Amino acid sequence: MVELDGRTVVITGAGRGLGAALATSLAETGCKIILCGRSLVALEKVADGIAEATGRRPVCIAVDLAESASVRGAVEAIVDAHEHIDLLINNGAMWLEARDEPYPAEEVLGVINSAVTGTFLFSQGLLPLLRRSANPDIVTIGSVSGLPNGLLDGVSVPFYAAKRGQAAIAEGLRQMLAGTPVRSIILHPPDLDDIQPGELAWGEAPGRAKSARATNRDVVEAVLFAVTRPRNISLSIVLDADDGGVFPAQVS
Ligand SMILES: NC(=O)c1ccc[n+]([C@@H]2O[C@H](COP(=O)([O-])OP(=O)(O)OC[C@H]3O[C@@H](n4cnc5c(N)ncnc54)[C@H](OP(=O)(O)O)[C@@H]3O)[C@@H](O)[C@H]2O)c1
Repeated sequence: MVELDGRTVVITGAGRGLGAALATSLAETGCKIILCGRSLVALEKVADGIAEATGRRPVCIAVDLAESASVRGAVEAIVDAHEHIDLLINNGAMWLEARDEPYPAEEVLGVINSAVTGTFLFSQGLLPLLRRSANPDIVTIGSVSGLPNGLLDGVSVPFYAAKRGQAAIAEGLRQMLAGTPVRSIILHPPDLDDIQPGELAWGEAPGRAKSARATNRDVVEAVLFAVTRPRNISLSIVLDADDGGVFPAQVS
């Protein structure tokens, strides 16, 4: 496993799924973790597991990325308690599946505001702390749905647009931060199987057949690869898979 030498890492959407897998994996590499998410109960459960595995308990901070007041409060709580942060992982974003019935405005606002407004405001708010790090990185978890000319394939149009917007934030930040030490990295995962470190499926994931879906572990490993590149390199990574990836699988 890569050693990240006590880096301080903020992860949104860390109460479950990919965010929890990232938090547990990065804690195991020696990072100090700040877990952010909507449910403090879920965050505390992830923190319990990390404390048990590493002896270091992450800080838990409630944030609803779709609510600007909540984002402001979370940024203030992190800024008040930390000198610097080294890595921000913008993982939280509301999922919305395609369906025939109309989407209520609240759902559309939730999807767009969590992925776009929230990702931008949270990143902007934490930039001063990132600028105090020797190795500052922002990693945004996009989606193959957010790629130009990506397939809709079961994804709602609001989610499709939100992920494209989130990708634009990562790319815009990269341009805005050119000439500064802060990197903006983006990963575009395909459909993922939600597996967690310690589970049997996590250990077996590297041996999956080519036809199998990608997993949280593939994204964790891509994040670790991206943040450990020489500092003059900022990666945009598309993780593709035959099942749930960029192109529909050929049916023979
Ligand atoms: N799962 C996949 O197949 C897949 C594929 C490509 C990309 N991704 C991306 O990977 C990231 C993690 O998703 P996932 O795989 O864990 O599955 P997910 O079901 O899409 O989970 C979304 C995550 O974002 C959080 N979230 C949703 N709305 C939020 C809000 N308003 N404020 C703060 N957090 C919010 C959720 O937390 P709550 O527990 O509070 O709901 C959850 O942790 C997302 O950005 C997702 O778009 C996932």
